[in-house]
Amino acid sequence: MTPRERLRIAVQKSGRLSQPCLDLLDRCGLRFRRSRDGLFCFGEGEPVDLLLVRDDDIPGLIAQGVCDLGVVGRNVLDEYSADAANQARLQLLQPLGFGQCRLSIAVPQDAAYAGARSLAGQRIATTYPRLLRRWLGQREVAAEVVTLSGSVEIAPRLGTADAICDLVQSGVTLAANQLREVECVLDSEAVLVAAATLPADARRDVIDLLLRRIDGVTRVRGSRLLLLQAARGCVEAIMAALPGATRPTLLQMDGQPGQVMLQALCPGELGWKQLEAIQRAGARELFVLPVERALA
Ligand code: PRP
Ligand code: ZN
Repeated sequence: MTPRERLRIAVQKSGRLSQPCLDLLDRCGLRFRRSRDGLFCFGEGEPVDLLLVRDDDIPGLIAQGVCDLGVVGRNVLDEYSADAANQARLQLLQPLGFGQCRLSIAVPQDAAYAGARSLAGQRIATTYPRLLRRWLGQREVAAEVVTLSGSVEIAPRLGTADAICDLVQSGVTLAANQLREVECVLDSEAVLVAAATLPADARRDVIDLLLRRIDGVTRVRGSRLLLLQAARGCVEAIMAALPGATRPTLLQMDGQPGQVMLQALCPGELGWKQLEAIQRAGARELFVLPVERALA
């Protein structure tokens, strides 16, 4: 294979999405060797390489065909696509279930706020001018959008803005800058992005393979496989204590009529309290197993 027949994925070099993204690819069975400058990762098993770049550059790299896929926050994708010139260039292939955060408007802690109207005539600093303008436009609020390239959270203290519109995850940055969140403009998470038209060559098969594997990883993320033994008559009560679990598989136990081995996939954690409740419902020999991947 010549290099450009290999699939190339753009990934954030350093930031909130970098490590979870590399972890996801690792769980999809992709292994990489990093170049000396650390910007390129050569895929060792599958024909997939990574380019490590600034997240804001990722949509453009895909639109130009430098990369085939990219992992970015929905905020970055939407800001790019909100430009009329970029509207139909990219497509969202799959939400990835990590990197949850929101693009929010925040004002100084002591500032009065009584809804979007309060922003009229105010200067709002952001690195997401198109999303902010759209949000303001939908509410017919005339505010001044101050576009910055970073360090948005200090603008109110510097006196260059009255409010900000920025990403909030834990809220630590806002608190540290005496700001309070007043409006959510967009809920975001990491998404897999591609050009509007997917490559029609061998790379397309690799994309399909990757999508199946990502699905297999994200579908069972945080799930647990529960194994236990019980009298058949107790199964209904046990399942009632397991909301969201898949329909159980029941195996007849050899030489023990009326006794079954139960197996069920449960979403999220299975805590001690829940296990104890299941035990009271008649279960014994309980095992909780982590689930790594799934192939339907
Ligand atoms: C965002 C945002 C804040 C911080 C908020 O930056 O600009 O600085 O994260 O997170 P918190 O609520 O957990 O404190 P990010 O790290 O995404 O970098 P970027 O916007 O420059 O890409
Ligand atoms: Zn960024």
